This record gives sequence, C-alpha cells and structure tokens, in this order.
Amino acid sequence: MNMSESTQLVPITVSVNGKTCQRQVEPRLLLVEFIRETLGLTGTHIGCDTSFCGACTVIVDGDAVKSCTMLAVQADGSEILTVEGLERDGVLHPLQQAFSSNHGLQCGYCTPGMLMSSLALLADNPNPTRKDIRKQLAGNICRCTGYQNIIKSIEAAASAMQED
Ligand code: FES
Ligand code: FES
Repeated sequence: MNMSESTQLVPITVSVNGKTCQRQVEPRLLLVEFIRETLGLTGTHIGCDTSFCGACTVIVDGDAVKSCTMLAVQADGSEILTVEGLERDGVLHPLQQAFSSNHGLQCGYCTPGMLMSSLALLADNPNPTRKDIRKQLAGNICRCTGYQNIIKSIEAAASAMQED
C-alpha cells in the first residue's frame, strides 16, 4: 500500500467569507493550506514555518487565529473570514482604506495578517490605545514599515468606524 492509498480523507464544512464550503481533506492539512490551495484564496500569506510572523492570520469564529497553527479539520463547522472577505461590493473596508491612506504598508506581505488582527481588536475594543494596538500586533511581524504607519492606520480606521 502506498502513502496516498493509506491517507483517509475527512469531510469538513466551513463557512468562508459567507460561503459554505464542503471539502474532503487530509487530516494533516493545515488551515492555511486549505485556504490557499484548496480554496484558492491566496490573500492569506505564509511568511514563516515557526508560527511567528502572523502573515497567515484569519478570523475563526470571531477570533484572530494564525492559520498555520490549526488543522483544517479543527475548523470543521467554523465561520472563517479571510482578507478577501473584507471588501463589500467593491468598497474597501475602513481598515483597508486607512492602511492605504496612511501608508500602512510597503511590500504588503504582512498586510493581510495585520488587517485581520486589527479587525479582531476593533471588534473587541472599538477605541484602542496605542498600547492596545501594539499588544494586539505583537504576533504580526512587518519587515518594512517600522510599524508607526500601521498603528496610525488602525487609529484612523477606529475613528472612521466610530463615525459610521
Ligand atoms: S505563516 Fe508565519 S505565523 Fe503562520
Ligand atoms: S509591508 Fe512589507 S512586511 Fe510589512
């Protein structure tokens, strides 16, 4: 028996950006691989193999989760939001708009993870202090910006979202 014959697939059902997705997956498949390779949603990035960088952050049932630290089978039954789900009808989410307006990105590799971590923060704490923002982003690494404009972007998004 070869390896592929011995691998049993497991059925999972998840909601991703509001759409129900049913797939058969290998038990060892990481959630980030499921999102990128099975579903083709490549906005979620992989920036390390040590669970350190946060580029893979998505929202699972309301919590920011590093999707390289979770198996796809563990997400069975969950509601997942990826960066592709932020925009609505061609209109950027206030966080995306604020990152754009405040130069909160350079190469953009970390940005999907930054956006999703920030989204979770603002859901819990609509008016965060700079300390709150820094604490939330402790697990998200950016090698370009020096973080100042990311923090400004999140503050601007928080203001914009409170005005809505
Ligand atoms: S890919 Fe770096 S923390 Fe997940
Ligand atoms: S903008 Fe390049 S890693 Fe953050």
